[in-house]
Amino acid sequence: MHCLVPLKGKNKPLHTADGSMSLYSMEYHEGYRAKSVGAYTESLHKFYHASCIGELLKKQDVRLLDICLGGGSNLSVTLDKIADIDTPYKLHIVTVERQASLFETIMDTPYLWPLRGYNILRELIVNANHKNVRLDIAIGDAREILSKLMWSFDVIYFDPFGKRKNPEMWTVEVFRQLHRLCSDKAKVVTYSSGKVIRQDFVAAGFKFTSTPKPEGAFQEGTVFSKE
Ligand SMILES: C[S@@+](CC[C@H](N)C(=O)[O-])C[C@H]1O[C@@H](n2cnc3c(N)ncnc32)[C@H](O)[C@@H]1O
Repeated sequence: MHCLVPLKGKNKPLHTADGSMSLYSMEYHEGYRAKSVGAYTESLHKFYHASCIGELLKKQDVRLLDICLGGGSNLSVTLDKIADIDTPYKLHIVTVERQASLFETIMDTPYLWPLRGYNILRELIVNANHKNVRLDIAIGDAREILSKLMWSFDVIYFDPFGKRKNPEMWTVEVFRQLHRLCSDKAKVVTYSSGKVIRQDFVAAGFKFTSTPKPEGAFQEGTVFSKE
């Protein structure tokens, strides 16, 4: 059967449970966001709300480390939500991603949602600044990039593919780098609630709680912190 939409690169559109679109990686054979949860819903609950980043931005400048950009859902949902927050404070985002082609994909894919959040992300990709938000992009292997970063972060979105497909990112060594990069009150949020993953974060010096979730909803994620 012929493809109606000519596919460019290694990703194809993924229609997810809440109606929002994400991407499916033909390299990793996995969706960038969980099809069964919904791309928008998962980013909203397991990353934006779980990290309390909106509340923090009302009180102080915030540095966000986004590991890994992927289809940009976590950042776009965050940018969409904070666009409604009236604050004098600044958000500085550093995003890390090994596939440089994803920036082009985000620029060229109009159906990604939320539209406003993605439009702000596109502007940040081109101009690095939008109102009170600055974006720095680091392309390469996150393990190497993290080991060289010297800033500290208030929020870390930790979002590689699952451990089976992306084992090099779910190691105690990587979690120790995250610990080094966290400010004292920082939160590291991830979609995973895996027992071994939680144990390995604890071995790296973290405590954890489960992500609050709407009743009857999807599997919980995890919030890690130093305190
Ligand atoms: C689950 S997707 C990220 C989804 C994304 N946060 C979103 O909101 O759409 C995982 C991403 O991790 C990237 N990745 C996997 N291993 C990596 C590594 N070692 N260094 C940097 N990026 C990596 C993949 O290229 C992929 O884009």
